[in-house]
Amino acid sequence: MAKYLTLDDFKVKDKVVLVRVDFNSEIDPTTKKVNSDVRIRAHAESTIKELAEKGAKTVILAHQGRKGDADYTPLKEHAAILGKILKCPVQYVDDVYGDKAKAAIKKLKGGEILVLENVRSFDGETKNGTPEQHSKTALVQNLAPLADLFVNDAFAAAHRGHVSMVGFTAVLPSCAGRIMERELKSLSRALEKPEKPCVYVMGGAKADDSLEISKYVLSNGIADYVVVGGVTSQLFLAAKGVNLGKKTMDFLAKKELTQFMPGIKELLAKYPEAIVLPVDVALDVDGKRKEIPVSKLPTEYSIFDLGAKTVANFAKLISSAKSIVVSGPMGVYENKEFNYGTKKVFEAIADSKAFSLAGGGNTIAAINEYGLSSKIGYISTAGGALIEFLMGKKLPGVVALENAVKTKKI
Ligand code: 3PG
Repeated sequence: MAKYLTLDDFKVKDKVVLVRVDFNSEIDPTTKKVNSDVRIRAHAESTIKELAEKGAKTVILAHQGRKGDADYTPLKEHAAILGKILKCPVQYVDDVYGDKAKAAIKKLKGGEILVLENVRSFDGETKNGTPEQHSKTALVQNLAPLADLFVNDAFAAAHRGHVSMVGFTAVLPSCAGRIMERELKSLSRALEKPEKPCVYVMGGAKADDSLEISKYVLSNGIADYVVVGGVTSQLFLAAKGVNLGKKTMDFLAKKELTQFMPGIKELLAKYPEAIVLPVDVALDVDGKRKEIPVSKLPTEYSIFDLGAKTVANFAKLISSAKSIVVSGPMGVYENKEFNYGTKKVFEAIADSKAFSLAGGGNTIAAINEYGLSSKIGYISTAGGALIEFLMGKKLPGVVALENAVKTKKI
């Protein structure tokens, strides 16, 4: 049984339903326009569509960027995109909880949708706090009395204990939206009781995240293997004592990654068989790819990709897995000369019969570029929240939903 309530537990016709979604999208720095509608579409085609079809008066709360950042914008365009996706009128009001917002909520009819202004225009929004503390804020005090139900659909922001993420669960009947439900179910398949063998494929440059995830999944017997590519694998090789050459070591130091080497060293000593590293790499020799075995390092050139032998090793482990989690590309995949590792490893994941879970901006971009998205078990809409979930952390947005069940009458 789910630890939280869902939309199946409520009758929403003609009820005011406050829905927290994550519309936070990439914004073009010059035009300030929304670059990708992936998140808006996900919420639109599931939770929001269902609520509108069931005749709810849907009020949407969402954020875009943070005050002071270049991607902090109003939600007018997001509302217009939502209307286009749903092919129905979507109202927008440039106010979150003031008189304008309240009047617009009171005027709503069953089946209508209203998007409120960027919830981070409320100054206290991004403070972390408990549901009880946040329920006393102006945002919750003004909006909650107008609403019958709070739906949290923003899994991608569930690692934030912000006002709109947890405050309403202390005062309103609350449940998970369909995206929240789908994310939690899919992620649990990869983290709670994954089918074995379970392989985690860690790439990209966020070595600190990969280290924490690897520690958690190996020490809890979740993953049988962690295969490491991308910049992260260079750091793992260096921690193992491989001399990569001055250029690569300077690059890793500049990225402030070398500080994680002691932690990686400890992990490698504890799990020497389970952590699988490259045996060969592709160098950038004047723009051309040149593969060399790791035993032939150091090099004066940059390491931009995995070598073919490594790709074959990774693909073999992947083909025998029953569950796979992938986060991060295997090399500089944006450059055709160096996309071999990412393409081949991702193709192996897509071709495997395992349940696969993918997340992270670059990972999703690469999966889409290679036309593999329909062959991946689940593609998460989350970035930071997914990483924290895979590290075994409790997400405040999810905890608040679980506690709401215990304290609310339905
Ligand atoms: C995200 O995109 O990771 C979430 O929307 C959270 O945004 P934040 O990092 O600005 O809190």
